[in-house]
Amino acid sequence: MRILNVGGGGREHAIVEALHRSGADIYSAMGNSNPGIARRCADTLVVKETHIERVCEYAQDKSVEMAFIGPEAPLEAGLADALESIGIGCVGPSRAAARLETSKSFMRDLLRDNSIPGNLEYRCFDDLDEARSFIHDTELKLVVKPVGLTGGKGVKVEGEHLDGKDGVIEYVREVLDSGIGGGAVVLEEKAVGEEFTLMAFVDGSHLAPMPLVQDHKRAYEGDVGPNTGGMGSYSAENHLLPFVLEEERDAALRTMQLTVDALRKQGMPYRGIMYGQFMLTKDGPRVIEFNARFGDPEAMNVLSILDSDLVKICEAVVDGTLTPGLATFTSQATVCKYVVPAGYGVSSTVGAPIQVDEAAIAKTGAKIYYSSVNTDGDMVTTTSSRSLGVVGVADTIDEAEKQCEAALGYVRSDAITVRHDIGKSELVQRRIDHMHQVRGE
Ligand code: AMP
Ligand code: GLY
Repeated sequence: MRILNVGGGGREHAIVEALHRSGADIYSAMGNSNPGIARRCADTLVVKETHIERVCEYAQDKSVEMAFIGPEAPLEAGLADALESIGIGCVGPSRAAARLETSKSFMRDLLRDNSIPGNLEYRCFDDLDEARSFIHDTELKLVVKPVGLTGGKGVKVEGEHLDGKDGVIEYVREVLDSGIGGGAVVLEEKAVGEEFTLMAFVDGSHLAPMPLVQDHKRAYEGDVGPNTGGMGSYSAENHLLPFVLEEERDAALRTMQLTVDALRKQGMPYRGIMYGQFMLTKDGPRVIEFNARFGDPEAMNVLSILDSDLVKICEAVVDGTLTPGLATFTSQATVCKYVVPAGYGVSSTVGAPIQVDEAAIAKTGAKIYYSSVNTDGDMVTTTSSRSLGVVGVADTIDEAEKQCEAALGYVRSDAITVRHDIGKSELVQRRIDHMHQVRGE
């Protein structure tokens, strides 16, 4: 099977590794020359992933039979629609269905209009005066979200990033004035609890769920600092998380199934990866956001333990013949830590060399996935984005964390940083304790 991968991050490196294990003949169109992806491909094209025409030409030129679209930007630009119009089936939804991620107001309205459980109180505004009077009148603590895409960095939370109602109003003004994320905001109720990610393969109707993962968005250890695309993540051997019950996972999955059903009924069947980010509150899981793609880093966790054939799953996604049993995962835990440039989240050190001893890392049992790096001979150098992910895979979270740390010892640079606390038993225990407290136990 000749498959086009679109995207050049750690997420796409994990996708490409899994496709490679399934014997696919892989071609990649990506914005940076990712060395981990390149070595698994028959050919690569460095191109802006939203350059629809060039990507389609490349796909035709290479006679690919199917495409896997990793990032959100090409989905928003309509790449899946364009590829499908030339007969290439896509793992990745149409532009219309991808609004689940690309428009936060579309997502909230869809849940509201179809009475799907898990929604939060919310209002949308493009006028500062109207927003201000709502903010003054409400008793809710608020979260401010630009409506459109901001690379995971536009959301600010009252009491964390924003100080009281005045702080909320100030940030709403900034978003509306600057036009980021489309110049409109969603103001939504702040949910209190622990976050988890549930991802599923979707074929328009059916879902094949993956193990739960917990990401860490804050830049610094102890969950402080600016929000980032994600600093690292872990998953447990039983595919739940230590603070999530099976029925809570099932409730989140039901929200996702009802969302898929609603999109299909509205004439925009969803095919691809659906990513649900939930806050587990005292009243059950609440939707924080949906993404129309694999999470990054979460893809590295789940694809490292994917037991079944990714090409077969992709064919079923495209053909509409998916069954949950098609996607199976080994009963192992994973811990992923992203190596990022020093200063990441505020001002990254760009162009710093990183030495990676891949042979030594392989001996630890951990996996490495390259992300946004440039290559310079044997060396890779940092860009302003995340550099590479290291994933420990073992029988327990604790062992996976230790394996990940052992492997990180073979990644050397003067100008990188890692959130070493991710997956450590102290931090996992804090999550469990927090959830006890939220549940009032
Ligand atoms: P997002 O980009 O929507 O994932 O938001 C970034 C982060 O902001 C999330 O990972 C949450 O930690 C936080 N957040 C977003 N929405 C809410 C909400 N309604 N309640 C509480 N925290 C939220
Ligand atoms: N890890 C969060 C995301 O991919 O959006």
